[in-house]
Amino acid sequence: RIRMEKIKRFQDIHVEAARFYLANLLTSKNYGYEYLRKRGLDDKIIKKFGLGYSLDSWNALMEHLTSKGHTKEELIECGLINHKLESNKFYDKFRNRVMFPIFDYRGNVIGFGGRVLDDSMPKYLNSPDTLIFNKRQNLYGLNFARKEIKDRTIVLVEGYMDLISIYQYGIKNVVATLGTALTEQQGMLIKRYADTAIISYDSDEAGIKATLRAIEILSKLGISVKILNLKDSKDPDEFIRKYGLNEFKKAMDTSTHQIKYKIDNLKRSFDIHKDEDRVKFAKEASKIIKELKSAVEIDYYTKYLSNQIDISVESIKREVYGKNYNKL
Ligand code: UTP
Ligand code: MN
Ligand code: MN
Ligand code: MN
Ligand code: MN
Repeated sequence: RIRMEKIKRFQDIHVEAARFYLANLLTSKNYGYEYLRKRGLDDKIIKKFGLGYSLDSWNALMEHLTSKGHTKEELIECGLINHKLESNKFYDKFRNRVMFPIFDYRGNVIGFGGRVLDDSMPKYLNSPDTLIFNKRQNLYGLNFARKEIKDRTIVLVEGYMDLISIYQYGIKNVVATLGTALTEQQGMLIKRYADTAIISYDSDEAGIKATLRAIEILSKLGISVKILNLKDSKDPDEFIRKYGLNEFKKAMDTSTHQIKYKIDNLKRSFDIHKDEDRVKFAKEASKIIKELKSAVEIDYYTKYLSNQIDISVESIKREVYGKNYNKL
């Protein structure tokens, strides 16, 4: 009962903060709006995602919310203001940043991400976990995506800008993990809405690592996973702005099966011109193929592997099936 009332107050605080940030973006003198426009976002999408701006001030939000009757203690618990113990000073956590409200799947604002307008660090600040926000259990954009999912297929991206950007172009069945590696709870959330996930994380090493981890989590849940090929782009936002919607759709249609992605990625750590490496790669890649249950798929990826390293399909299959090979 008391807890429910506190949750209600926290929700109210977040709604009022989001309104404040939005009003700042549109009415006060700042570079936030200009920044978002420069990144290709139009007014319609800015409004849809409730984007805002936190003023270049130490306490604008705190003043606003306390004047509306909210206590500093609760604003601290919401992660919106910080308390500096040494000087006993309170100050806004988000300052001079473009603000992205984080929604739960119902559309309630439960947290915020804030991006700097230049390339200073840290690039993004996010709300901490609070009474109403659990990062590991939430997927950014799910409140919109769940109404747009067709064929039980979902696109998975890293960041705020990736999601909003491709959404604006028309790819609306998209959710974001917000930088953190996909968790099992998030995987289960995806499973409610989708049987196929197309991962479009960044093409850098961190993105590849996160992709491999997401593949494991999602395939364990029985979700079929494919990986979008970003060509020379560093993330889906950059890709769609460079190549457009049709190329993005094409990339979705031709996205890479998880087994092929894993084999290709494994290959990078070997020099297959060396005999030893080639043999090691063949053995390791066979283990990946072993994860497949369908004989047709095994056949297909065995041929794929065989073609790359000039080791016979026959012996790769022996390696894959092990002692069951003779029973075939
Ligand atoms: P990226 O570094 O790939 O940034 O982080 P981005 O999404 O491409 O952002 P832009 O295009 O430079 O604006 C991916 C996601 O990781 C989280 C954010 O959710 C971000 O969208 N992140 C990143 C943080 O939380 N903090 C950071 O300092 C950086
Ligand atoms: Mn209020
Ligand atoms: Mn990244
Ligand atoms: Mn990125
Ligand atoms: Mn980006």
